[in-house]
This record gives sequence, structure tokens and C-alpha cells, in this order.
Amino acid sequence: EEHFAEDIEAILRLKRERNAVILAHNYQTPEIFHCVSDIKGDSLALAREAQNVDADIIVMAGVHFMAETAKMLNPEKMVLIPDERAGCSLAESITAENVRAMRREYPGVPVVTYVNSTAEVKAESDVCCTSGNAKKIVESLGTDRVIMIPDQYLARNIEAETGIKMLTWPGSCEVHERFTPAEIRQYRRLHPGVVVIAHPECPPEVVAEADFSGSTARMIDFVSERRPAKALLVTECSMSDNLTTLAPETEFVRPCNLCPHMKRITLKGIRRTLETLETPVTIRPDLIDPARRAVERMLAV
Ligand code: 13P
Ligand code: SF4
Repeated sequence: EEHFAEDIEAILRLKRERNAVILAHNYQTPEIFHCVSDIKGDSLALAREAQNVDADIIVMAGVHFMAETAKMLNPEKMVLIPDERAGCSLAESITAENVRAMRREYPGVPVVTYVNSTAEVKAESDVCCTSGNAKKIVESLGTDRVIMIPDQYLARNIEAETGIKMLTWPGSCEVHERFTPAEIRQYRRLHPGVVVIAHPECPPEVVAEADFSGSTARMIDFVSERRPAKALLVTECSMSDNLTTLAPETEFVRPCNLCPHMKRITLKGIRRTLETLETPVTIRPDLIDPARRAVERMLAV
């Protein structure tokens, strides 16, 4: 679109001048995802790639916990987030004290924390996980019980997959908790043959209605390989938009739900953050090492 062109050009110039890279989550809008980002992916890919950045500045086109994760892996670099208010209902659902209380209640049970969490919560954890590696992480621990926080639905879905008992926390994603099994069945009636792909942050009864469940990167791989005639991505709206270029012959059937936090990131915001260098992400110094340890343990599994 015409009004994007000037911002895109300015961002590409500023990236060179500042020696900056832009990391974009799969839920970013197409003009950000396709036109200005250097590295794109699910939460796992963004954390992995953040380890290897050799620019001076990292701009996170994503939500705050993603910027924090990039910062703890690069404490010497400047990490910018275009809108500090881009939060996450999961990250906001739990505090460090809540985690300590769970440890007191279940002594010796390992704490696996979804990356959708604050640095102070990661710092209390044994290991992090994403929806892309949760099964593998949980199984690597070799225990019959795991404290898996803060997403109750991810915990239940992984419990169903692994048979390992999950002690969890009543957190949920405000985008994925809104999908219902009735809605999925209705779409199947309206679109016979539609392939239904649900994110594991959806309630287990929604995942049970799906043909496939996986992280946003797994969803992209699945659609690009299978090229279904019709697909229903039970997740955030930008996923279908971003996938149309990769699977142009697939018709994406909605519904989708918008993440208001992801949508706070705009081209104008990215341009402004590169111009003004506002706002650098900071982490309480005493939290950096323990939080990074939980993330690095995850990346090593
Ligand atoms: P993934 O991209 O890791 O699947 O995470 C989805 C999400 O909701 C991130 O906020
Ligand atoms: Fe958080 Fe859900 Fe938004 Fe992802 S989609 S940032 S989990 S609220």
C-alpha cells in the first residue's frame, strides 16, 4: 500500500545506519512480516536466532516477553521494543512469588515455564519451553510430574500427549481461549474437507476437534507441505495473511482472533523506535543470569 512505502524505505535505511536487525513474530502484520523483518518465526525460532545476532541493535516486532528474552541472551546489546505496552495475558497471570509458593507446595518437582512469562518468573524456573518444544522438554526431565506454568491449556494438551502429570497455573492466552469446539464443528459443516489446525494454547476440547496442533512455525510448515485446498488456522489472524504468499492456492477459512498486544506493533512504531532509540528493554540485573539459564537450558535440549 502507498502509505506503507515511505515508512518501509525509512526503516530499511535506518537499519543500515544503526546496524540493527528486526526480529518479527509470525503474528505480525504482513507489511512488517514480509517487508522489513530480517528474522521471523515462532517464539522458539526467535529465541534461538537471538543467540546469533551480530548487529548492535535488535528491534523486537513482537510482545514484551520476547524482547526480554532477546535482551537476556544479549545483555550487551540494545534491544528495542516499538511499544512497551505490548504485553501478554499469560505473562501477566503469574508472579515470582506464585512460583515460589508452588515449589513449596510440590518440593522437588521441576518447574517448566512457558517463554510467555516475565524475566522474574523465568528466573525462578528450572527450564523454559515453547509450544514448539514443550513435549520434548517435559520428556527430557524424566519425572512423572512436572510443574508447567502459566498456561493451563498448554499444560493439559502436553499432559494428554505425554501422559506426564502436569501441575499447572490458571493462566491462559486471551486470543486462543476464546475458540470453542462448537465453532470448529460449524466451520467443518460449512466447509467440508477443511483442514483444521489449532494452536496448543487452545483449550484441549478445541485441540481435540483439530486435525493437527502445533506452534505457529509448525502450522506454517504443515500448510506449506500439505497445501490443503482449505485450511482453518485456529489462532491469531495474521497467520493466515502471512501464509497466503507461501501457500497461494490454499483458501484460509476464518475465524481468527486478534491479539491486541501483537497489534500494538506497527511500521510507524518500528520507524520511530529506530529513529529515537526509545524504548530500550531493561531487565533487573539480578534476574538476568538466572532467567537466561532457564532459556539456555531449553535451547540446549
Ligand atoms: P508460538 O509462535 O511459539 O507458537 O507462540 C504463539 C504465541 O501466542 C506467541 O505469543
Ligand atoms: Fe500472549 Fe496470546 Fe497474544 Fe501470544 S497471542 S502474545 S500468548 S495474548
